[in-house]
Amino acid sequence: MLFEIQTFGKKVLRTATKEVPEINDEVRKFVSNMFETMYAAEGIGLAAPQVDRSIRLFIVDLSPIDESENKRVYINPKIYALGEQTDEYEEGCLSLPTIREVVTRPTSLKIRYQNLEGHSFDEEVDGFLARVIQHEYDHLEKTLFVDHLSSLKRSLLKKTLNKIASGEIEIEASENFEL
Ligand code: NI
Repeated sequence: MLFEIQTFGKKVLRTATKEVPEINDEVRKFVSNMFETMYAAEGIGLAAPQVDRSIRLFIVDLSPIDESENKRVYINPKIYALGEQTDEYEEGCLSLPTIREVVTRPTSLKIRYQNLEGHSFDEEVDGFLARVIQHEYDHLEKTLFVDHLSSLKRSLLKKTLNKIASGEIEIEASENFEL
């Protein structure tokens, strides 16, 4: 089942998220539908608020750009350390169609999370995965990547953001690997 991806202007993207209390079949079904939705939109990362659920869960699949990668599911994640070194990359987001901007982020992080079987993991991550995780984690914290831009850059995007909010710009599958 495909979910409707929520775009800029929808309240759910600015709503606090709750922990997933129990990892059960309902959650596993939800995650399976999230993957279906993400693949249909040709994205490589998707967070629950983007499909209208205010829960702490996101998915990642970098296999379109790295064939050694596979499905990754992060439930109740907690980023508890970020590296000091930063890099720049032009990000996109399924909830912000047509917008791509350079965002500076730490290159490494430590994250604690649960998987679909309810097992807990503690991982150190760097490289592109660390960027994608930070972008998706931001969605759980009501933050969009445009919030990281300078106020000048944000003001230049105002028109486009208004068009997304009013439905004039819609999501199209792109080859840009949106997050
Ligand atoms: Ni996004």
